[in-house]
Amino acid sequence: MAQTWTPNSWRQKPIQQVPDYPDHTALEAVEGRLAKFPPLVFAGEARRLKSALANVAEGRGFLLQGGDCAESFAEHGADTIRDFFRAFLQMAVVLTFGAQQPVVKVGRIAGQFAKPRSSGIEKQGDVTLPSYRGDIINGIEFTEQARVPNPERQIMAYRQSAATLNLLRAFAMGGYANLENVHQWMLGFVKDSPQAERYRKLADRISETMDFMKAIGITSENHPSLRETDFFTSHEALLLGFEQALTRVDSTSGDWYATSGHMIWIGDRTRQPDHAHVEYCRGIKNPLGLKCGPSLTADGLLELIDLLNPANEAGRLTLICRFGHDKVAEHLPRLIRAVEREGKKVVWSCDPMHGNTITLNNYKTRPFERILSEVESFFQIHRAEGSHPGGIHIEMTGNDVTECTGGARALSGDDLADRYHTHCDPRLNADQALELAFLLAERMKGGRDEKKMAVNA
Ligand code: PEP
Ligand code: CO
Repeated sequence: MAQTWTPNSWRQKPIQQVPDYPDHTALEAVEGRLAKFPPLVFAGEARRLKSALANVAEGRGFLLQGGDCAESFAEHGADTIRDFFRAFLQMAVVLTFGAQQPVVKVGRIAGQFAKPRSSGIEKQGDVTLPSYRGDIINGIEFTEQARVPNPERQIMAYRQSAATLNLLRAFAMGGYANLENVHQWMLGFVKDSPQAERYRKLADRISETMDFMKAIGITSENHPSLRETDFFTSHEALLLGFEQALTRVDSTSGDWYATSGHMIWIGDRTRQPDHAHVEYCRGIKNPLGLKCGPSLTADGLLELIDLLNPANEAGRLTLICRFGHDKVAEHLPRLIRAVEREGKKVVWSCDPMHGNTITLNNYKTRPFERILSEVESFFQIHRAEGSHPGGIHIEMTGNDVTECTGGARALSGDDLADRYHTHCDPRLNADQALELAFLLAERMKGGRDEKKMAVNA
């Protein structure tokens, strides 16, 4: 029998990845202030996302989740948010066309600030300091002062999340996300791409579809769905004191919700079933993500599924698989088989970033080919197992950074120094992200054609 859950029952459990705040009175004061702040999102929105994800779990949709590895205070600005949103929506349109299914759009944004670290300390030369844990906790500068966890940063993160979400809501509902705009941006991308020929076929088919809709009178003036879009936010629920302060009872259902974002996920380093992060997440009703890395056993996964989704509700749990391009074939099939055998309803999503990080010229980077290769294997394996490859989870930005190698512009190890801006892991730049969408859309169409041929044979 599970013990009674409360928003602070996680405090009784062992916990990983906690910052060492020197001043606990100051920390409690900040948590007290946050607890009185307005929620960032509403329970009804989280429920809407859950029902969209339920369709994905049932094979009738595709999840696109992406954004920064870590949002930063320094890069907070309208242009960064707009450029991200623009790149993200273009990916979504291309994937909608590829999948011929609704794409559920979830940003790693408006709250993605706290980072788990593989080591608690960082060494540079003779100096050893506490690791950077994300702007919500400490500063990235390699100085003793910056690395001290400062609770006031949580207030900053809350304010930045509110401002970011405000702009995203305006973009999503105020006409900027108009399908015609997104289509024009996409055509601009294709025209300028070194791979223009390859992408043009799919782009032309999207254009033809748009022309056809216009011809029969379906326009953004008479169809709100063409000028508005549903966009949701998500982040790793790592800093539990912050999450607890924003955990609120929904007055319509009486249930507890995390109001820091629509969807939250548990990282690969904090998914111990008897520890604090799983305890916190099991009690809130938001859709949840669970990162699944190579060390997760099939039984371990089933145990976590029972804890996090005891009612086996479709849309509640998304398994975000991050094995690495060379390990996915070893680990994914055994997990799919266990989940299928037990009849558990989940969304299967592929994070092709976190298992494919290498060091090149002293930069952490990720080769585009490996990212693509992990997603391709993910699709092939699901096809072979008869399960639904439900989504992708990527680290990306709308800016023209040089953090991942490869892609149509063939970024090399020597290019990394040019515009390497990430606060944590290397992200796909706008072009690489869109290329990934085009290449996946091609594969999805290929998969559908194969299925049709098999049915007609
Ligand atoms: C992340 O998503 O940034 C992350 C740290 O992932 P994981 O928990 O899968 O390592
Ligand atoms: Co990351």
